[in-house]
Amino acid sequence: MSPEPGRVPTDAQILALHRQHAPTPEAFELVYTHCRIVCAIAEQLLRRRAHSLDADLVRAGCLLHDVGVYRLGQDHYLRHGVLGDQLLREAGWPDRLARFCSHHTGVGLSRDDVTTQRLPLPVADYLAETAEEELVMYADKFHSKTTPPVFVSADTYAARVRRFGADKVARFAALRETFGEPDLAPLIDHYGHALV
Ligand SMILES: [Fe+2]
Repeated sequence: MSPEPGRVPTDAQILALHRQHAPTPEAFELVYTHCRIVCAIAEQLLRRRAHSLDADLVRAGCLLHDVGVYRLGQDHYLRHGVLGDQLLREAGWPDRLARFCSHHTGVGLSRDDVTTQRLPLPVADYLAETAEEELVMYADKFHSKTTPPVFVSADTYAARVRRFGADKVARFAALRETFGEPDLAPLIDHYGHALV
């Protein structure tokens, strides 16, 4: 059930894709809930600032960005992005949707990051290019699928990103400036996940 050419997929189409590819109900619950939370964060940020982004595309990108987790098996977690990209392409979904999977890790991985840190990824740039890709990547930083899942404050993420270098610190600060900080309180209330 791939989206019609040129159309952003509906929530129902995305939900069906999740159900089709999740190996267990627990995996579905964890990943789909996270995707919905990331979507709520992105939409809140979009509402707050009059960005000229394609809101439907942002929504689809958030709801899809982590589908590669379903294919991880014993693979390195870092590979969930490229696996999701592959999953969507195999399903016949277009490049602009597949890219949300492979271009949301951290605050963007460059070809240089892949080679110097010897990351288990095909050597390429995985940097968000469009504003929609940037927002999906940024919103994803505020919730984590740990056991149990948690919300992550902007300050906590800013402190965590330090170990990846000054360029990543600057990149996160720039995204924070562009999109603002989400108000996580209503989501914490609704989902009951703690804030770190
Ligand atoms: Fe995510």
